[in-house]
Amino acid sequence: MVQNGITTPKLSFRPAEDVVHGTPYAQYARLETLHSLQHPRSAEDAELSFIIATQVMELLFDLLRHEWTAAQRSLRGDDVPAALAALRRGTHVQDVLISSWDLLATMTPREFGAFRPLLGEASGFQSSAFLRLEFLLGNKSESLLRMYESDPAVHTELTAALHAPGLYDDVLALLSRRGLAVAHRPGTARYRPAPEVETAWRQVYTEPGHAELARLGEALLDTAERVTRWRQRHLSAVKRAMGAKPGTGGSSGLAWLKQSADQDVFPELWTVRDQL
Ligand code: HEM
Repeated sequence: MVQNGITTPKLSFRPAEDVVHGTPYAQYARLETLHSLQHPRSAEDAELSFIIATQVMELLFDLLRHEWTAAQRSLRGDDVPAALAALRRGTHVQDVLISSWDLLATMTPREFGAFRPLLGEASGFQSSAFLRLEFLLGNKSESLLRMYESDPAVHTELTAALHAPGLYDDVLALLSRRGLAVAHRPGTARYRPAPEVETAWRQVYTEPGHAELARLGEALLDTAERVTRWRQRHLSAVKRAMGAKPGTGGSSGLAWLKQSADQDVFPELWTVRDQL
């Protein structure tokens, strides 16, 4: 339809062959399925925010994995500008992830307490998409795979991820190809900082000829800082919604989360700053 010389969006559509109803938009975004996935277990209004915040963050975890694995592919192809672009897209995803905590920022202990018992033993700690990100960041742990023994597809995927190089492994391999003395080999345990890696980053930041790698170092710090910011906002949401009670996943709650928020990813990029 045209109104005042401006064409308005169409209101009737040619149906796709295999679909009997719904707008093309609804079909593309699978809206019927999407909007059928929220099932509060209580009459508490705040539970819908909790479910949607969880689902939004799960989708963003997947998107972040997509960007970080794109960055890894580019690093393996020695294409640092493409890796920087993927990391930059990732930082925008992280910013949305961090601000998603606003959805839960006002939840009171009374509101959370109204549906918390209905969560049973469910906890975000069991998120396989989050664990996949942790492995990419170098926070690997074989023992956590036990959680997925009853889900063979997830277990197989995470086992492969445990044995595959993480993002930082690919960065260190690039440093080595660029002539820096880094003899790091990817493993299946949590990444531990190494003096030779710190020395390599010092050279990157202080010696000529490494401008591209220095930009990569800064992009990794942008990523690392946002990982910590997400953990800190989680911590604040937990503190506000339930104080220091134990978690539904069985941990001591706040104290356990604080320990993980205090650990830097890509550690030598932080410690090298003492020497710059
Ligand atoms: C105010 C609401 C929330 C509370 C009170 C809360 C509480 C907790 C607690 C106590 C833990 C520690 C493990 C445990 O014993 O359960 C935990 C872990 C975790 N939660 Fe939440 N959570 C909340 C919302 C969310 C949301 C919306 C997500 C998004 C998916 C999420 C994702 C996670 C993840 C990924 C972990 C593991 C963190 C890590 O390994 O460092 N949480 N949560």
